[in-house]
Amino acid sequence: MATHGIKDKVAIVGMGCTPFGEHWNRSAEDLLVDANREALADAGLEQGDIDAYWLGTMGSGFSGQLLSRTLKLDYKPVTRVENFCATGSEAFRNACYAVASGAIDVAMAIGVEKLKDSGYSGLTRAAPPHDGTAVGLTAPAAFGLLAPAYANAYGLDDDKLKDVITRIAWKNHYNGARNARAQFRKEVPLEAIRNSPKVSGMLGVMDCSGVSDGSAAAIIVRAEDAYKYTDQPLFVKALSMVAGPGDGPMDPSFDYTSIREVVECARNAYAEAGIEDPRAELALAEVHDCFTPTELVLMEDLGFSDRGKAWRDVLDGAFDLAGDLPVNPDGGLKSFGHPIGASGLRMLFECWLQLRGTAPQERRIDTSVKKLGLTHNLGGHPGDCVSFISVVGTEPAA
Ligand code: COA
Repeated sequence: MATHGIKDKVAIVGMGCTPFGEHWNRSAEDLLVDANREALADAGLEQGDIDAYWLGTMGSGFSGQLLSRTLKLDYKPVTRVENFCATGSEAFRNACYAVASGAIDVAMAIGVEKLKDSGYSGLTRAAPPHDGTAVGLTAPAAFGLLAPAYANAYGLDDDKLKDVITRIAWKNHYNGARNARAQFRKEVPLEAIRNSPKVSGMLGVMDCSGVSDGSAAAIIVRAEDAYKYTDQPLFVKALSMVAGPGDGPMDPSFDYTSIREVVECARNAYAEAGIEDPRAELALAEVHDCFTPTELVLMEDLGFSDRGKAWRDVLDGAFDLAGDLPVNPDGGLKSFGHPIGASGLRMLFECWLQLRGTAPQERRIDTSVKKLGLTHNLGGHPGDCVSFISVVGTEPAA
């Protein structure tokens, strides 16, 4: 747990999120303008009301100037942050801590990524020079290792495992079909998912998140000021970030059925938020479904299912919109694609809509009893990654 924790110290009072997709005729700057404008309008604020900015982007620009130039900011502090695929969440975490410190009254966390016109179908990154011992695998190859490992550990044959990961993609596309901001907005039949062209190991195209452009933003204030801006703030109950030692691929005991960084990150987050039974206490979870087996393993690492039981919970619909604990009700990375700097904030945007009862009716979940939402964002590969979790809720401190 963070040394003193952040529970109930800060709140979100406005958010914006662009549609994610192939924005061939829009620049990163255009997307930032849109997300910024929506967040300001949501909170009823002017640009000059924001005291400081944290900008998340992995490869769509350098330094805070990407934002200050774009928004013509009036000499305000802008910090650019990067933490692999958890970059958007990192922008949020840093903005929250700045406000909690008392140094800043109103902060914006904003993230953006333009991937489609980068010339790559997946992620783009310039690796720094290294000594040649770094493990080199594409993302689908690295996360694809989770599928046979899980099947082998829990006695599932390939067919059954394929049923399970297919069901995950089907569920997320079902949810995304009910979201106007998603990249892919069509339900996809189980057979089409199952038979989609092979990408790596057991993974087909439909087991992968898409590649898209997008931006999202959040405005953060001290918890005691939150009701000055909105009747329905979201209070931050926990922020947890863990960076692992990266020894998974070399460690014989690392068996690809669990991601240690996520387990540790979840332990910290639940301690900070005071959560004992996440499946019973959370109204929704937005998790990093970069590939379908990732979501499967996350259900266990996040404590939503017992070890070796998530596959059964998936098939039983426990994580569907009307299930015990809706997971990725907005459609997840599967339907949104994964513009790195924006994804973590996009996940929070769904909590913002759902917990405040403003999500569209066709995908609205029941939040009458449970008042907490979780976002989980992962950067790197199984065995060598950073993991982030936030817990947010509508109830102020008791
Ligand atoms: N899910 C659903 N549909 C997808 C899709 C996906 N992941 N990727 C592409 N499509 C659809 C497109 O909409 C398009 O449909 P259309 O013909 O009806 O317009 C069609 O498939 C072909 O799209 P295209 O862009 O040519 O696909 P591609 O072959 O270049 O890319 C992948 C497919 C799987 C390689 C790409 O989506 C990918 O690299 N995903 C993983 C991204 C990644 O590694 N993220 C990091 C996570 S840690």
